[in-house]
Amino acid sequence: MTLPLDSYIFSRTRKAVKNRTVLAAMTNKQSHQNGVISDAEIKWLKIRAKGGFGIITTAAANISEDGKAWEGEIGMFDDMHIDRLTELARSIHSHGSLLLGQLFHGGMRSPQKLTGTIPISASKIECDISYSGYTHSVSSREISKLITDFTSAAVRCHESGFDGVELHGAHGYLISQFLGKKTNFRNDIWGQDLCGRSKLLKDIYLSIKQNVPDSFIVGIRLSPEIKDMGIYLNDTMHLISRLSDMGVDFIHLSCWDVFADSGFFQQKRKTYTEIITENYNNLPTIISTGSVWSYTDAKDLILQGADLIGVARVGIAYPDWPKNLIDDGYKPKLPPFTIQHLKEAGLSDVFIDYMRNWKGFVIDE
Ligand SMILES: Cc1cc2nc3c(=O)[nH]c(=O)nc-3n(C[C@H](O)[C@H](O)[C@H](O)COP(=O)(O)O)c2cc1C
Repeated sequence: MTLPLDSYIFSRTRKAVKNRTVLAAMTNKQSHQNGVISDAEIKWLKIRAKGGFGIITTAAANISEDGKAWEGEIGMFDDMHIDRLTELARSIHSHGSLLLGQLFHGGMRSPQKLTGTIPISASKIECDISYSGYTHSVSSREISKLITDFTSAAVRCHESGFDGVELHGAHGYLISQFLGKKTNFRNDIWGQDLCGRSKLLKDIYLSIKQNVPDSFIVGIRLSPEIKDMGIYLNDTMHLISRLSDMGVDFIHLSCWDVFADSGFFQQKRKTYTEIITENYNNLPTIISTGSVWSYTDAKDLILQGADLIGVARVGIAYPDWPKNLIDDGYKPKLPPFTIQHLKEAGLSDVFIDYMRNWKGFVIDE
């Protein structure tokens, strides 16, 4: 049986990962105003590579200036970012981990106050971070530019020495806003049925593939369901099947809790990972993430059908989490964590402050 520390090879690119652990994308607010990655942000990721993670993912990085969704966000929208991204890639590779850049556009979640432009989305919808109270529904020409911007960001990742990219199609940002039935009311080729609503994502993927070498990993992160946006499991499953046929290198399921009962499959209650992996046999690499803390959690997730185990919060508190998986009884202490603990784990004051937004994570002592 497969164990969390077993190595893995991506089937198409033949890229080898030293174990099954993935540090999932985590926003940490440490980049400079112009999106250039800071020393503190490189340090935070480098310590996790040193701690044994097979794959390190950057925080969500904006692919155009109007896609920025918060202060301190890493940017990949300009060639000026390449030098420091190259430094990041060198640091991560020096510890034998692979590096993925997470590419995203905030869409209706990119505040006008921050970007200076009206937040864009699939359709004109109410939006309290737009001065007019509404988003701007993008034209076909603007969609072409978005595809070009995502592609250029991926090419920059490749030029910087990254191993691949993850397209952020989860959590309600621009790509999800196109996918959602309740956020995409378009009547043109970019809307209507699932085929139309997922066209932006598919066209971004195809465009990137045409502009990077075959050895470069291109995968997609999806939320199996976001009901209030009109993203439902049934549609996500069809989409995953289609993306698998198109040859994507991985699908990253953002489950929040990989153990949650998520629906029926063959008359039995199952998790998202089980429902998806048991339903298809042509799937690419499956990464699944959410609420994994212990060795047993990691092993259970593999038993559910995941190839790679994504973690976020445990990787903040325990930079060498993968190394600890040598012990099959490993069960780290859960949050809250003291400021001292987080500082020792290599977090800057800015990041620790941000972590206060995650309920119950930081405790003052
Ligand atoms: C501080 C923090 C920042 C996050 N930022 C991102 C992000 O930039 N992109 C993303 O796709 N998910 C982001 N997430 C979600 C995580 O990748 C992950 O899916 C989620 O935290 C559940 O995993 P966990 O239970 O192991 O923490 C973030 C999570 C945390 C805790």
